[in-house]
Amino acid sequence: MKPDVSALYERLREKLHDIVPDAELQIKAELAHRILQLKEERNAVILGHNYMEAALFHSIPDFKGDSLELCRKAATTDKDIIVFCGVRFMAETAKILNPTKTVLVPSPKAGCSLAESITAEDVRALRAKYPGVPVVTYVNTYADVKAESDICCTSGNAAKVVESLGVDRIIFLPDEYLAKNVAKETGKRIIIPSRTPISAATQAADAASGADIEYEMIGWHGRCEVHEQFTVEDIENVRRQLPDVVVLAHPECSPEVVEASDFSGSTGAMISYVRDVKAARYLLLTECSMGDNIAAENPDREMVRLCSIRCPHMNEITMEQTLAALEQTRYVVDLDEDLRRRAERSVRRMIEIG
Ligand code: 13P
Ligand code: SF4
Repeated sequence: MKPDVSALYERLREKLHDIVPDAELQIKAELAHRILQLKEERNAVILGHNYMEAALFHSIPDFKGDSLELCRKAATTDKDIIVFCGVRFMAETAKILNPTKTVLVPSPKAGCSLAESITAEDVRALRAKYPGVPVVTYVNTYADVKAESDICCTSGNAAKVVESLGVDRIIFLPDEYLAKNVAKETGKRIIIPSRTPISAATQAADAASGADIEYEMIGWHGRCEVHEQFTVEDIENVRRQLPDVVVLAHPECSPEVVEASDFSGSTGAMISYVRDVKAARYLLLTECSMGDNIAAENPDREMVRLCSIRCPHMNEITMEQTLAALEQTRYVVDLDEDLRRRAERSVRRMIEIG
């Protein structure tokens, strides 16, 4: 191993010895070294979402964070190339905010079940049906959907965005669970598209939870394929065995799961919580790589591993793919300029709110 690769390997080993097997760490250190060299040569910046696998997360990104934090970094970088180690909708948001840069997403397969659940045509149909009702769109959508919306939000600012509109009725797209969690938090009437008829039991549960929800039957519903898998029973089982556990749930989890948890927030907010609030142990109800990343940063904190649900889209982003992206300038994110400008309005309006 060359001396600078060896230094990188030692740094990674110190952090990740309990998480990544040694043989793999050696390979990852070599790869990281080549990526970092090329990043300098190409005048690139690497943004890494909190769900990146541990070796990548701890070696190559210049900036790490949740969707909102990375949006802000993408908007202000002066580098020529932005390599987005995250999924496509995130890379698109970088392009929307900083259009003169070359934006690369290392895999063309890095989608998102939420982004794929809705089209621009769906939004236009909703607008026609509810004239004058503002459309709030989660950033986990593609640029054409953002372009049809009034304002975007992330999991870190959804309630604040909804409250900023100063109206009582809002269309919130496309995440059914996030929409319900926001309805509960803000007390606003939220119109949620739903694919299937809503049972009397669900409507009664919504009312009992204090959320004011209007269902709109339409041809889709959006849920995160990772977070929808967590259940209240999962939490109860862990609490039975470990009564002092603190449970953190991402707001893409169902309202019942969020209600049964101790804290709910964006991936960035969950990381801050573990760092700042001392507890005996923590259970994270989110994508599993983030548990590894938090454990590596906080060796004195005990993270309970409930189950390992890896986002298959985030999993597409590997160091090999990142290296190839920089070597071959692939896969370039390009957007039609008129569409980009319209999407930018919604994203910038969100950023101004915070
Ligand atoms: P954050 O904005 O909280 O990082 O969430 C992004 C995401 O895709 C969660 O599944
Ligand atoms: Fe999309 Fe869920 Fe994966 Fe996040 S974890 S990128 S919301 S599928």
